[in-house]
Amino acid sequence: MEQYGLFEKVAEDLANEGISIVDNFLEPIEVAAICAEDEFKNRVLLFKKAGIGKAGERQINENIRGDYIRWIDKTSASKPIQIYLERLKQLRIFLNQALFLSLKDEEVHLTVYPPGSFYKRHLDQFKKDDHRKLSVICYLNQNWKPEVGGQLRVYFKNETKDFFPLAGRLICFRSDLLEHEVLPATRERLSLTGWMLDRISN
Ligand code: OGA
Ligand code: MN
Repeated sequence: MEQYGLFEKVAEDLANEGISIVDNFLEPIEVAAICAEDEFKNRVLLFKKAGIGKAGERQINENIRGDYIRWIDKTSASKPIQIYLERLKQLRIFLNQALFLSLKDEEVHLTVYPPGSFYKRHLDQFKKDDHRKLSVICYLNQNWKPEVGGQLRVYFKNETKDFFPLAGRLICFRSDLLEHEVLPATRERLSLTGWMLDRISN
C-alpha cells in the first residue's frame, strides 16, 4: 500500500475500532537496517530493565514486565531509526488532520523481551493527566513462527484478539482505552515502542 493509503487506513481503523494493524509499515530492508545498528547489536549492554509507574515512583517488577529498553534520542539516532521517526511524524500529522487531534510529538524506545519474559495485562495510561494518547509499536522480528508465541493480546469489550510481532508490522491503538498484554515467547522479541503525545516530549 502506498503511504497515503496506509495512513488513511490507520485513521479509519482508529476511528472505528480504536486500533489499527498495518503490515509493512517498514519494509524488510528497513527492518534489517535498524537491527544492524550498533544500538541494537549491543542491546545486552545498552538496554536497561524497564520499570513500571511514572518517574518518581518508578519500580521494577519482574512479575509484571520483563522487557529491557533504551529510549531513542532523536538528535543522535542512527539513520535507519531517523527514517522510522520521520514516518511516524508524517503519520501523526496525517492523523491530526483526519481525526481532528492535536498530537504534538512522539517518544520511542527500543525494546527487547528476552525469551520467557512478558508484560501482564495493563493500560498504557496510568493516570488521568497522562500525555500518551496513541500507543505505536513496530515489530522487528524476521521469520516469526506462530508456535514461538509472543503475541500482543488486546482486550476488547467482549473478546480478545492476538497479534504476532511480525517484522515491519505497526500496531497503533488508543492508550486510554485498550488494555493489552505481551505473552511470553521462546525467542527474543524486538520492537520499537512509542507513544504519540499531546505535548512536546521532554
Ligand atoms: C508496552 C506494550 C506491547 C508489545 O510496552 O507498553 O504493551 O506488543 N508493548 O510489545
Ligand atoms: Mn503497553
